[in-house]
Amino acid sequence: MAPGALRGRGRSVWARVTEEVGAAAGRVREDIDAAIDRDPATDSRLEMGLASPGLHAVWAHRVAHALWTRGARLPARLLSQASRAATGIEIHPGAQIGRRLFIDHGMGVVIGETAEIGDDVMMYHAVTLGGRANAKIKRHPTVESGAVLGAGARLLGPITVGAHAQVGANAVVVKDVPAGATAVGVPATTRMPRGGEADPLFADPALWI
Ligand SMILES: CC(C)(COP(=O)(O)OP(=O)(O)OC[C@H]1O[C@@H](n2cnc3c(N)ncnc32)[C@H](O)[C@@H]1OP(=O)(O)O)[C@@H](O)C(=O)NCCC(=O)NCCS
Repeated sequence: MAPGALRGRGRSVWARVTEEVGAAAGRVREDIDAAIDRDPATDSRLEMGLASPGLHAVWAHRVAHALWTRGARLPARLLSQASRAATGIEIHPGAQIGRRLFIDHGMGVVIGETAEIGDDVMMYHAVTLGGRANAKIKRHPTVESGAVLGAGARLLGPITVGAHAQVGANAVVVKDVPAGATAVGVPATTRMPRGGEADPLFADPALWI
């Protein structure tokens, strides 16, 4: 290969690396800002970035998921397990997670391999997105954008929790939850907000923490 072509290739690799690093830094900033919006106990970006196990688990998952989807499955699992040891949050590297997921407190969260999570989802400690089957199929829940999962909520099977739905603390959810609805209890029962629209009270978790 001619030296000019090599230099050109080197520049394009460098351009790609700087582009990807820039995008990753942007995602980290938006994660921290979204976490501050939802956590009334912290208003410093530095404190949130350094002391939030939920954010650390999500960031480790991004790297683990990239390894997993490129076929580096063992390194992906090892990174996921190291993150679990450090944060108490276990996210299988195969799980698909959208932007600005915030896991508050975090300890005891388990997110299975075929789980799918949209954007701007919030969950508390001890949430499980688990399977009810051992077959290699889609067996974990889908959580659509804007949903909130209370502490200890267990979502089991390939169910869908609709956009902006609320799952109460310690609920066991084994059926779909419609968008904007609230599910509580064991097994969870679902109620739509008055007027069939999302209750503004639920829009701000700070109001009911
Ligand atoms: C589900 C939730 C969002 C509903 O909020 P809410 O507006 O206060 O609920 P309501 O007062 O309208 O309750 C409706 C009914 O559900 C019951 N209920 C509320 N949360 C419940 C829960 N987690 N499990 C079982 N029942 C619950 C209420 O007692 C009430 O029953 P009633 O109609 O017989 O009186 C909220 O209770 C919840 O669980 N949020 C999660 C908070 C959390 O995990 N915080 C962790 C901070 S560390």
